[in-house]
Amino acid sequence: MKKKVLAAMLSMAMAATLLVGCGAKEEAPAASDAPAAETPAAEEEAPAAEEAPAAEANGKKVGVAMPTQSSERWINDGANMKSKLEALGYEVDLQYAEDDVQAQVSQIENMIAAGVNCLVIASIDSSALVNVEKQAKDAGIPVIAYDRLLMDTDAVSYYATFDNKGVGTAIGKYIVDNAGLDPANPQTIELFMGSPDDNNAHMLYAGLMEEIQPYLDNGALVCKSGQLDFESNNTLRWDQQTAMKRCEDLLTRYYADEELDICATAYDGLAYGCMAALEGAGYTTDNWPLITGQDAELMATKHIISGKQTMSIYKDTRLLADKCVTMVQAVLEGAEPEINDTEQYNNNVIVVPSYLCTPVAVDKNNYKEVIVDGGYYTEEQLAE
Ligand code: BGC
Repeated sequence: MKKKVLAAMLSMAMAATLLVGCGAKEEAPAASDAPAAETPAAEEEAPAAEEAPAAEANGKKVGVAMPTQSSERWINDGANMKSKLEALGYEVDLQYAEDDVQAQVSQIENMIAAGVNCLVIASIDSSALVNVEKQAKDAGIPVIAYDRLLMDTDAVSYYATFDNKGVGTAIGKYIVDNAGLDPANPQTIELFMGSPDDNNAHMLYAGLMEEIQPYLDNGALVCKSGQLDFESNNTLRWDQQTAMKRCEDLLTRYYADEELDICATAYDGLAYGCMAALEGAGYTTDNWPLITGQDAELMATKHIISGKQTMSIYKDTRLLADKCVTMVQAVLEGAEPEINDTEQYNNNVIVVPSYLCTPVAVDKNNYKEVIVDGGYYTEEQLAE
């Protein structure tokens, strides 16, 4: 069923053309042009945030609610938001809820009680905050959704995120362009998708399926578990252990006689879970699958360099924070936020005006250009 060496060679040869193929390079946040970490490698002109006089922020307080510190990206998001808002003169209350939905509700309630002027929320369960969002609205506190859409509420003013369907599309295109898909030599694939209470996970899945469905249909890709529907392949709270256990189970039940060739995971943490399961099941470099991820965490980028993880999706959280800060300024100072999507993000009550940053597929062929030259990680960090 598999020709690993050929696939690996193809993978290397084709990866070079990947970004041109999926158009991501041209749209990428020009990482290689970014002189330093300070500059968000932006494809757009400098955000209004940096032009605003700090005096306008006078005494205003912004509550920033983040989901968890168990994943590196959210630590970076929180730190970026705090420093960028503070640089403009805002006071910031940054809280992490460690994936505990009730804890996040309480944190937001406390922020409202403490009299914040604006709330920025990256939710854990995007539908669980409806009441507290109403409290904010009633208190005249504007709410901005950060990275994850806030569902079922009219209390949200703006949404700063990445093109979430585009993340799935990029993962799918990577598989299509690099796995050497051929109905005469089918490759096995399993999907490890994100959390069902996160709208991003659904959008990623939709983008991924659009790309790989033709190859499932023509037999070039085979999912032996049959777990192709989101209901059976999602991972509550994007939890690494849950993904590991599910991967172990799939390997035992469906891959005793045949190897798993592709782990299509929606997040680096899920990829780590799959890697542990694969190692436990005796997979080695000789039959190691193509493994996808998302976030280009430091560890994932190191794994990409060593070949353990094949690719990830780089999301420049500095750029996202810049866009979100312009939204904070818009609701607090009456400035114009930059918006580039007024259609896709319907939260069941309203369509939320959004800014979508561009996700970029990274693998061992372009991580230097995108990640190192973009000032996201240094060569030293990656070598540690
Ligand atoms: C984010 C991803 C992240 C995932 C798990 C999603 O909402 O968009 O970047 O990998 O959550 O933390």
